[in-house]
Amino acid sequence: MASLTNKNIILGVSGSIAAYKAPDIVRRLQDLGAEVRVILTQGGSQFITELSLQVTSRNKVHDNLWDKEVELSMGHIELAKWADAILIAPTSANTIANLASGKADDLLSSVVLASDCPILIAPAMNQQMYASASVQANLKTLTKHQTLIIAPESGKQACGDIGEGRLAQPIDIAKQVGNIFQTTKLSGKKVLITLGATIEAIDPVRYLSNHSSGKMGSALSDACIEAGAQVTLVHGNISVILNQKAQIISVMSAREMYQSVMDNIAGQDIFIACAAVSDYSTKNIEKNKIKKSEKTLILELTFTKDILQAVCKLTQKPLCIGFAAETQNLVENAQNKLKNKGCDAIILNDVSRCDLGFKSDENEVLFLTQENSIKIEKNSKQKLGRKIIEILSEQFF
Ligand SMILES: Cc1cc2nc3c(=O)[nH]c(=O)nc-3n(C[C@H](O)[C@H](O)[C@H](O)COP(=O)(O)O)c2cc1C
Repeated sequence: MASLTNKNIILGVSGSIAAYKAPDIVRRLQDLGAEVRVILTQGGSQFITELSLQVTSRNKVHDNLWDKEVELSMGHIELAKWADAILIAPTSANTIANLASGKADDLLSSVVLASDCPILIAPAMNQQMYASASVQANLKTLTKHQTLIIAPESGKQACGDIGEGRLAQPIDIAKQVGNIFQTTKLSGKKVLITLGATIEAIDPVRYLSNHSSGKMGSALSDACIEAGAQVTLVHGNISVILNQKAQIISVMSAREMYQSVMDNIAGQDIFIACAAVSDYSTKNIEKNKIKKSEKTLILELTFTKDILQAVCKLTQKPLCIGFAAETQNLVENAQNKLKNKGCDAIILNDVSRCDLGFKSDENEVLFLTQENSIKIEKNSKQKLGRKIIEILSEQFF
C-alpha cells in the first residue's frame, strides 16, 4: 500500500480550471501521512484562494519568488531541500512549457530546478491544448528528464469539450506519489518508544536518576522513521537531539512516564521500552531543600509501576519490545524478564562493560525472543538501531 508517512511533499498548483481540486489533493496526500506545503503560481491564484490552501495544508502558502522576508526564512532553496517529492497538480500547459525549457522566472519553476527529488506532474487542460504538438513535445522532453507524468483522464471537460485532458482523480494522484517511495513492513505502522532516564525528586534541588543518555532510543526512533513508521517518543532526561518527525512528549518521573505511555498506547502497533525507568521513587518529596547535617540521611523509597509489564497486560496489546540492561547472568536474567513481563522480545545489553551501553555511542546486543537469540555485533548505536528494526520487521511482520 502507498504510504507517505514522514514524507515532505511540495504541491505546486498552476493556472488550470482544475485548481479548485487542489485542497482535495492536499487532503489525500495528508491521508497517506505526508506533510504538505503548497506553491501557488500567479495563474493558479486566479482559480483557487491562498486561504483555502493554507487552511488545508496547515502551512503558509508560498507564492512569490521575490518575497524578501520569506527568503530570510524558508526561501526557494530551503523549500527545494525540504521536499522529498514535488507534485504539480494541476499542471497548466504554460507550466509544462516552463519546466521543459528549464525556465526559472517564478517560485515553482525555480524550486523544481533547485531540487534533486522526484518531480510528478498531473496535466489538466482543454483536450485540443493537450493534443497540441507543443504540449506533447514538452511532455516528451520532461519524460526524458525523469519527470513522472500522471496522465489526464478522458471525458467531458469544463469548457464543454469531450476528450483527454481532465485532471486525474485526487486519490489516484496521491497514490501515485506514494508509489514512488519504497514501502517497508513498517510503513504507516505506529510505534511508541520510551527513552532516557527518569528523574525522581528528593527535594526541590536533588534527585535520583541514572546514566541513560537516550542515544539508543533516539537511534531506534530514526530507524523507525526511516522505515516509514509514525513514531511517538516519551522521553525522560536525555542528551541527544530527537528527530522532529516524531511526536515528542517530555516527562520527568517514572510515574509521569507511566501515565504518558498509558495515555498514548491505544492504537500503537509497536511499543519499545528503551527508557531507563527508576524502579524506586521517593515516598515523600521534601517541600524545602533538606539541610545539610552530619547525621545519616535515610530516604524512604517506594516501588514504581512497571511500564512494560502494564503494556504487556493490556487486552489490545501492541507488539512489546523491552530492554534489559544487565551486569551479571546476562542471558538468564533477560530470559526471565521476557517470561515474567510477557513481552515479545528483549534486547539485552551488558552495561558492566565501559566501552558499551549507557552514554556510549556504541553498543552490542542480543535480540531474544521465546524461539530465537540473535547477536548483533558491536556497532554504532545508529547502525544497531537500524539492525534491531530490520530484525523486528522480519521476525514479527
Ligand atoms: C478561464 C480560464 C481557464 C483556463 N484553464 C486552463 C487549463 O485548464 N489548463 C491550462 O493549461 N491552462 C488554462 N488556462 C490558461 C492558463 O491559466 C494560463 O496559461 C496561465 O498563464 C497559466 O499560468 P501558470 O502556468 O503560471 O499557472 C485557463 C485560462 C482561463 C482564463
